Amino acid sequence: MKLWGGRFRKEENKLMEDFNSSLHVDQRLYAEDIKGSVAHVNMLAHSGLLTRQEGEEIVKGLLAILEEIEAGTLEIGGNYEDIHSFVEAKLTERIGATAKKLHTARSRNDQVAVDIRLYAKNKAHEVMQSIEELQASLEAKARENNVIMPGYTHLQRAQVVTFQHHLMAYYQMLRRDKLRIANAIEIMNESPLGCGALAGTTHRIDREMTAKALGFAKPVDNFLDGVSDRDYLLELMSGFSILMMHLSRLSEELILWSSQEFRFVQIDDAYSTGSSIMPQKKNPDAAELIRGKTGRVYGSLTSLLTTMKGLPLAYNKDMQEDKEAFFNALDTVLSCLAIMSNMIATMKVNHEQMKKAVKAGFLNATEVADYLVSKGVAFRDAHSIVGAIVIYCEDHQKAIEELTLEELQQISPYIGDDLYAFIDYENILNKGIKVGLLR
Ligand code: ARG
Repeated sequence: MKLWGGRFRKEENKLMEDFNSSLHVDQRLYAEDIKGSVAHVNMLAHSGLLTRQEGEEIVKGLLAILEEIEAGTLEIGGNYEDIHSFVEAKLTERIGATAKKLHTARSRNDQVAVDIRLYAKNKAHEVMQSIEELQASLEAKARENNVIMPGYTHLQRAQVVTFQHHLMAYYQMLRRDKLRIANAIEIMNESPLGCGALAGTTHRIDREMTAKALGFAKPVDNFLDGVSDRDYLLELMSGFSILMMHLSRLSEELILWSSQEFRFVQIDDAYSTGSSIMPQKKNPDAAELIRGKTGRVYGSLTSLLTTMKGLPLAYNKDMQEDKEAFFNALDTVLSCLAIMSNMIATMKVNHEQMKKAVKAGFLNATEVADYLVSKGVAFRDAHSIVGAIVIYCEDHQKAIEELTLEELQQISPYIGDDLYAFIDYENILNKGIKVGLLR
């Protein structure tokens, strides 16, 4: 049953067999494995390495296997080393001796490399699409909620912004995340099929033909590199890690904003859970899980970086570990994007609470300094004058705009009646973060 049994005098140890098997992980590559084999066989027939009839027989057998797996009539499983062994064994069961010619001029090393590239490329497009869906959710929520809110630095109230502008900051992060993934796709778009185990093959194969049939821009330029390169998984996982960092920051804000201390947003019941003991609790579990799962994506990236760092060229079995790490990161990113998108779409925004929060914390203090500058005061001096105004306000428990002109002029004679309009929160917004500025 082993693809390589001929050279061995003894059976593989059972523990070793389980240890070595990757079928439970790489079974999800079945479609890519079969498509890669079909392209390979068509090329072999075209190059005269198989007869046309042999080629057709193998392709028909492979496509039947694909159909059966997809229909659920053929279950992937059993005592096979990996998905490549499984497919070849099933092909042999179906078409007999001709199946033994499938692996002509190919190694599992270039086979697995082409499978995972095809899979990663396809899934990277799916991630980009999910990012776009989240961007659309954010943009829609931003449009509906072009309202004033406190902006923060050091989590201390700083200056006024709009909820729209705040949400659209995440839109921009996601735009860059998408570019990073698109860039990884462009770089990985070369076919390793035909590199063989590491040194190509003496058969006259046509790598251009298989590359084209599988949708790659070209075949790779170097055989050793082709079978030992996993950069594209690392690049995608780096992109995923940065993306998750963004989702985690957004989650953190949603968690804060939905607390009684902020009450800026209300996360929908559908994306919250309760407590088994405290009947009143509604917890932002979805956001917490996204924040938590970010660690798992970083972990997957670190895991594969570490796996690869000491490997001599070309293929080493260590590299079989690439799939579990990549699949884990990928699945996590896709589910987090979908959950975040729905959570944003269904969340309620508390305009009144945000407006109320704007009024405390001297969010117009910087604009008082700007006003003084417009009256000819040097900015550093203006900064210091406003510092004195803030101390006065704290002592008298008032906002700056609540001080009388007399009180203000006692601190600085440069202040006139026109200050009040200048430091009106909505007016500040119109001059700074333009109301209606979506991007
Ligand atoms: N299951 C292996 C992997 O995922 C396939 C390649 C095996 N090649 C080998 N020479 N043993 O990496």
